[in-house]
Amino acid sequence: MSSVRNSSFVHLLAAFAFLLQTTFGADPLLHICSDTGNFSAYDPYEANLRHLTGYLSIQAPPSGFGLGSIGQNPNQAYGLALCRGDVSSQDCKTCVVEAGSEIRKRCPFDKGAIIWYDDCLFKYSNVEFFGRIDNRNMFSMYNLNNVSEPEVFNAKTRGLLSQLANEAYANPKMYAVGEMELYGSEKIYGLTQCTRDLSNDECMKCLDGIIGKLPSCCDGKEGGRVVGGSCNIRYEIYPFVNA
Ligand SMILES: *[C@@H]1O[C@H](CO)[C@@H](O)[C@H](O)[C@H]1NC(C)=O
Ligand SMILES: *[C@@H]1O[C@H](CO)[C@@H](O)[C@H](O)[C@H]1NC(C)=O
Repeated sequence: MSSVRNSSFVHLLAAFAFLLQTTFGADPLLHICSDTGNFSAYDPYEANLRHLTGYLSIQAPPSGFGLGSIGQNPNQAYGLALCRGDVSSQDCKTCVVEAGSEIRKRCPFDKGAIIWYDDCLFKYSNVEFFGRIDNRNMFSMYNLNNVSEPEVFNAKTRGLLSQLANEAYANPKMYAVGEMELYGSEKIYGLTQCTRDLSNDECMKCLDGIIGKLPSCCDGKEGGRVVGGSCNIRYEIYPFVNA
């Protein structure tokens, strides 16, 4: 189980995670408890957080994204939930409900926290963060297997993800998936997505930023992800989203 406080850029050896399919009850990819404050039992913040979690688990599933805030300063809680663009409303709900309960167990007294699963992201804070790129909460994962022609492969991967960044930022769902021919019949499959509190320009900026992390995370690797609090990218040599 991985957990980090005061996150910077965290690298995960993700061989295990690549074996996990997106079944229900899947383990989180990672969580981060933030250091923006603590609360104690029966604090008004806790009630606000509980309401916010319930609200987001209803608001997010129909469209795949929910954003909201509950309460008044100094006990106001801000949060968002984002499901991967191909995930059904039902699976989105399952993931957000699970995320909302799991993160409270993992960060019980932290006013802010974030948790990622294959199917969804759930985040809350006592500090308003809507519309701002979150680079503080970020990690990467890669497949341990090396490709045979890293230079060609890296260039194609970057090309595909840049193209998908251009599609995602202009799409109302801020999500894009696609594939590209590799060598012969092989293909690379990619995904880009932003949280929809970002403006189109900020989404593009966020995706550009994490695409720039590819050389340090996933150089010549068969699969990789760079996952932030506001956007994420993923590529694999097999299809990984529902058609
Ligand atoms: C906040 O709570 C966490 C446990 O959730 C604890 O590890 C941390 O030291 C606390 N921080 C402060 C400033 O009290
Ligand atoms: C991939 O390459 C790295 C560095 O060249 C090496 O350390 C690693 O063992 C290789 N991985 C596999 C699965 O062969």
